[in-house]
Amino acid sequence: MMRIAPLVVILCIATVVGLGDGAGCPMHAAFGRRSLKQVPPVVQPPLQFGYYATSCPNLTNIVAERVNFWVLQDIRTPGKLLRLFFHDCVAAGCEGSILLNSTAALQAEKDAPISATLDKFFVIDDIKAAVELQCPGVVSCADILALAAVKSVALAGGPSFDIDLGRRDGTVSYLAAATASDPLSTMKVDALVASMALAGLDINDLVALSGAHTIGEVHCTSFTDRYDPALNTPFPDAAFGAELQAFCTGNGAAPDFATLNLKTFMDLQSPNMFDTSYYVNLIIGRGVMTSDQDLYNDPRTQPMVNQFATNRTAFFDAFIASMLKMGRQGVLTGTNGIIRKQCWTAQL
Ligand code: HEM
Repeated sequence: MMRIAPLVVILCIATVVGLGDGAGCPMHAAFGRRSLKQVPPVVQPPLQFGYYATSCPNLTNIVAERVNFWVLQDIRTPGKLLRLFFHDCVAAGCEGSILLNSTAALQAEKDAPISATLDKFFVIDDIKAAVELQCPGVVSCADILALAAVKSVALAGGPSFDIDLGRRDGTVSYLAAATASDPLSTMKVDALVASMALAGLDINDLVALSGAHTIGEVHCTSFTDRYDPALNTPFPDAAFGAELQAFCTGNGAAPDFATLNLKTFMDLQSPNMFDTSYYVNLIIGRGVMTSDQDLYNDPRTQPMVNQFATNRTAFFDAFIASMLKMGRQGVLTGTNGIIRKQCWTAQL
């Protein structure tokens, strides 16, 4: 897999957030200064609650109805949509670039190896089609994704909350942006904090947002590192680790975790329920990925894990605040960006 030197990543990110001139960033060399995202030339309006109140008053109902429909087809849908929103925001901002397909000229974020396990893009395309019928050319794909993620949390039993809107869509998507920005399951807290900082998020956001792993699935390949003695990231609950290993290898038939292409649940206590059991699992040594378990192992994040495990309101309040913060990162508003007609293409 392509590796990008940390310095190059910093130079590219500096370009994206407007702090650098792009020198040293290979994507700048290839595509010009505004390569990863359009840098606003003038101050643009912030997101607003109720942004579509007059231009598309039925929007939240349409999104709710479509997400509900797809959850009835597949109870795992909320986890997929929530993860899509995170991956959109973390790579080049919440401007819908994760939804774009690659073109002949450009490999998109979607096709980065790290995006291979993203799923349910078609749900966003379906919601967009339903929204276009009532409000043509008004609502961005970036906002539809944000609304779908928020609705997903509520449908999975998590908090119901409003999100501010008014995002517009980007027109480009770079595979390298995803590779450079997405945190890895093998990371420990230091690396996770550094990775989230690139997306404008801090250590508190890291712990609160990781609570999203209370729902959803995880491929065995995302935690093979835990069985490598050299990496020293074993399961504190060794019996649980052994159970997962037996499952992932078909009881030893395929020692290479990748062969069977299996997946399990992030939170085996309540896989489809947005609750506090993710944090309880960390305390009892049953965090599935290194990036999860280390939140309990690290003394900086352990107090928050303990708090969220026992105080649902504290977790939900922190999660909402961090979701809103994440949703404001790198947005295009006002005269920036476009409203795509279809979420997978920037062609109008
Ligand atoms: C903090 C660093 C994070 C890392 C390293 C990370 C990594 C991962 C990985 C490796 C998977 C499993 C992919 C697979 O094997 O199929 C996953 C799944 C998931 N992630 Fe994260 N993630 C992080 C943060 C987040 C955040 C902030 C959110 C949302 C707010 C999120 C939401 C999800 C959800 C819901 C799933 C389950 C997806 C499904 O069911 O297919 N993650 N994450």
